[in-house]
Amino acid sequence: MLELNKICVSFRSERQDKIFGHTRQQVLFDISMRVEKGTCLGILGESGSGKSTMGRVLCGLLKPDSGEVQLDGVSVYASRSGRRNLQNKLSVVFQDYTTSANPRFRVKDIIGEGLTVRERREGSRLDRDKETASLLELVGLPSEFAKRFPHELSGGQLQRVCIARAVACKPEIILFDEAISSLDAHTQVQVMDLLRELKEKLGLTYIFITHDLTSITYLCDDVLFLYQGHVTEYMPVSRISQTKDEYARRLLESIVVFDADEEVAV
Ligand SMILES: Nc1ncnc2c1ncn2[C@@H]1O[C@H](COP(=O)(O)OP(=O)(O)O)[C@@H](O)[C@H]1O
Ligand SMILES: [Mg+2]
Repeated sequence: MLELNKICVSFRSERQDKIFGHTRQQVLFDISMRVEKGTCLGILGESGSGKSTMGRVLCGLLKPDSGEVQLDGVSVYASRSGRRNLQNKLSVVFQDYTTSANPRFRVKDIIGEGLTVRERREGSRLDRDKETASLLELVGLPSEFAKRFPHELSGGQLQRVCIARAVACKPEIILFDEAISSLDAHTQVQVMDLLRELKEKLGLTYIFITHDLTSITYLCDDVLFLYQGHVTEYMPVSRISQTKDEYARRLLESIVVFDADEEVAV
């Protein structure tokens, strides 16, 4: 459904070359991938590997130097309508829920941002209080929370509000960029359970960006390893233990609990 084809991205680097003027630093190299409807694709890589840049390309915010992004066969960057088509179908949840939620907004206004998108798209007005209450219930929060401010919520509760905002516009795809990375381990599992439940209930497609392999194995169908802007592995999560890629192996070994019977090479 959503597809990247040989995407390259570079940024102007701060360093000035004496002869050639500004040089460019390439951040993504020939990235290709596709997410099928109803599945979850994990994008895994260490900090600085280009995950967020790839996320920005995927959600219509950054036009690549070359390559194509297609949603349901429609090119995203070729025309304004292509970009609008994507923005109508895709929502984003970021890591930093404290800055992505306006501290002066009440919960109902944060969720309201998503409802506004839907109203504009559908050209009709919604019963906001009713919608907000049912969205809060959907993400497992009491309806009284509608009146609260972000600082009156825990990190996990606020991230649930951001998830409610993301589903409020009835998207088909949600992109999560390190959305659970700053939560404690216990809360991470609770939020991942919520994400699984929502995916089933609403028939959603996910793209899940993270530096944490555990959450990939918990949530994703396919995984793409990104290393310094290159795809080093792209496979179903069920086959992850068979990866030959060195970087992927290193990550795997860092979480694998060694079996006592297993021989350990020294
Ligand atoms: N707007 C930008 N201008 C210049 N360089 C950027 C910009 N955005 C990202 N980069 C660079 O691109 C590389 C990848 O960054 P990013 O996609 O944020 O990685 P990740 O999300 O995996 O940590 C980094 O070296 C970063 O400094
Ligand atoms: Mg990032």
